[in-house]
Amino acid sequence: MRVLGIETSCDETGAAIYDANQGLLGDALYSQVALHADYGGVVPELASRDHVRKLLPLVKEVMLKSGSTPDVIDGIAYTSGPGLIGALMVGAAFAKSLALAWDIPSLGIHHMEGHLLSPMLEDDPPEFPFVALLVSGGHTQLVDVAGIGQYRLLGESIDDAAGEAFDKTAKLLGLDYPGGPALAKLALNGRAGEFVFPRPMVNRPGLDFSFSGLKTFARNTIEDNSKYGQIDEQVKADIALAFERSVASTLSIKCARALEATGHNTLVIAGGVSANQRLRTALQKMIDKRGKGKLFFPRPEFCTDNGAMIALVGYYRLAAGQREDSQVICRPRWPMDTLPGI
Ligand code: KG4
Ligand code: ZN
Repeated sequence: MRVLGIETSCDETGAAIYDANQGLLGDALYSQVALHADYGGVVPELASRDHVRKLLPLVKEVMLKSGSTPDVIDGIAYTSGPGLIGALMVGAAFAKSLALAWDIPSLGIHHMEGHLLSPMLEDDPPEFPFVALLVSGGHTQLVDVAGIGQYRLLGESIDDAAGEAFDKTAKLLGLDYPGGPALAKLALNGRAGEFVFPRPMVNRPGLDFSFSGLKTFARNTIEDNSKYGQIDEQVKADIALAFERSVASTLSIKCARALEATGHNTLVIAGGVSANQRLRTALQKMIDKRGKGKLFFPRPEFCTDNGAMIALVGYYRLAAGQREDSQVICRPRWPMDTLPGI
């Protein structure tokens, strides 16, 4: 079975082909970062229009790259939620129309399930069961994963997602959108211990997170250390480092707790923030300290949004016989624990 995957939930247009026997045969991505940069964040209407422009050329590109003609594609998977409604509709309408024209099935895929299973695209994939830490621009969730579609939410952010906290703090530091990678780069020049940010909610039991207070803490720290509205570059780097350390250590404490609570020894991290090197190091240290377990994550380009993860999940589900009718389905809000197992 060979599946075409399409991702258009936010500001990246992605397409990929996944084959049952040969794995990932090709993927292509177009990032809208430059388009939204002037606005300091994603403008939904501009995102939708750009997906319309880019999707067909990207699909043509992956068909060519993978040596596929329409007759060897057995199904189409598209992100049907969660995400920006207009952006989702572009992918859904495109996928449904193409599936109708090629007379093959199509299936709406949950974007966060795509992230969650993205480490399965690597040569050394994790085995079930495991704990997954999903850290993206819109979500921060700890999930107990028993198998595909068997997800139990252990905890989540009660306010800002980790990526959102990175983006907002980066903006306060005058960095360009998307702030996560820019803040991480700046933090490389930071001096450890110059500032100490709080570790939100680690002293309370449970596995929920709260990151909105960090942004306020960052704002106050920046104000306290500015003179005439100007802040020293070194101080900015120190603040970026303190912020990053706080997020990495908070996430790591909660991951350790989730492994204890579930009895699992495998930890998977995925989503845009899982590209963060300091987070990966903190989690690896936590696993080493436990003395058991293993950490899995996707390659850097599959941490952020991509078509490959959608093609992969589409393959799993279509191969299991899952189908939907020809109605265009978009689910801007879609709890992951309502997904069917396979
Ligand atoms: O998964 P993703 O591409 O999109 C969503 O589904 O939201 O995640 C994007 C988020 C952004 O908030 C971005 O700033 C953050 O991931 N991000 C990072 C890094 N790379 C991307 N945050 C921290 N460090 C990074 N290296
Ligand atoms: Zn994402």
